Amino acid sequence: MKLNIAVLAGDGIGPEIMEQGVAVLSAVAEKFGHEVSYKEALCGAHAIDEVGDPFPEETFQTCKAADAVLFASVGDPKFDNNPTAKVRPEQGLLAMRKKLGLYANIRPVETFDCLVHKSPLKDELVRGADFVCIRELTGGMYFGKKQEPAVNADGVEDALDTNYYSRPEVERILRVGYQYARQRRKHLTVVDKANVLASSRLWRKVAQEMMGEYPDVQTDFMYVDNAAMRMIQDPRFFDVIVTENTFGDILTDEGSCITGSMGLLPSASTGSSTPVFEPIHGSWPQGKGLNIANPLAQILSVAMLFEYFDLKKEGALIREAVNASLDQNVRTPEIQVEGGGKYGIKEVGAWIVKYIESKK
Ligand code: IPM
Ligand code: MG
Repeated sequence: MKLNIAVLAGDGIGPEIMEQGVAVLSAVAEKFGHEVSYKEALCGAHAIDEVGDPFPEETFQTCKAADAVLFASVGDPKFDNNPTAKVRPEQGLLAMRKKLGLYANIRPVETFDCLVHKSPLKDELVRGADFVCIRELTGGMYFGKKQEPAVNADGVEDALDTNYYSRPEVERILRVGYQYARQRRKHLTVVDKANVLASSRLWRKVAQEMMGEYPDVQTDFMYVDNAAMRMIQDPRFFDVIVTENTFGDILTDEGSCITGSMGLLPSASTGSSTPVFEPIHGSWPQGKGLNIANPLAQILSVAMLFEYFDLKKEGALIREAVNASLDQNVRTPEIQVEGGGKYGIKEVGAWIVKYIESKK
């Protein structure tokens, strides 16, 4: 297969983890006889510094023309505590999602047996937890009508975000949820706040109408506050969660810490144009240049990329290599066992590449 990949390394640890992601992608492509070409493009703080725009038109065109985007991370502390900044790196990510029509964000939360002790939760609660959060990504408060802080007619400073959803937006993401549930344990949990929010009542109404079309899937409804609690009390309850943009943002950070390291979780964003594959962690500016971050989420995002194109063996080989690296304690510092060797981003990446190359 021929694959044109847009490479958006972004900020912070992004370029370092991306280097390993690309190395793994190339090694797998070589092994299975795929022809891959890469085109790098600017995004995030880096792009603001260079061209004044966190998602420049040229980057958009590169993404649109590609078969897939491999994305690392954006963000820079110099913008974080400045609420009046006119442009922010995160706007680049949001612009990418919107312009590429990436309405479905797929965030699997899987545990690795050898790492359950790293979880802040008890081993017995976490072991075997395996669910997917399908987060709506181009609607809700993130993109609804906004008003930045300003003094109103009564002389009071106010601000506004609107949590807007239309029926087609809700329906298409619920369908993605049902498709995933059908391929998994056939249990879909629709997370909303229908006891308070009108937008959530639309979600619930549409879901109730659709559930009859999927009699093989057990559908249940859960308020988001309850879901946040359940995720900690009993993460194994969940199979597929489908929810709106803001709730999905919050719940997936919560979900990621169940597994013990945020550095392990990949994601895919799909929709009407080029799909994007990226780790769910951020740019971790404090780790930049130190060769200490975990490249596994980026590498597992490459596995998701192959699987998206139905290249299952390719994805499976990456997962096997990642598991082997963990089993052999070839691990970055935050998940390394006491007395274990010292491995940084580069060493873990190189080990995984070597493993892939050595497979018959
Ligand atoms: C995420 C991130 C982004 C979001 C930020 C960086 C804009 O937290 O992908 O979850 O809020 O969607
Ligand atoms: Mg988030």
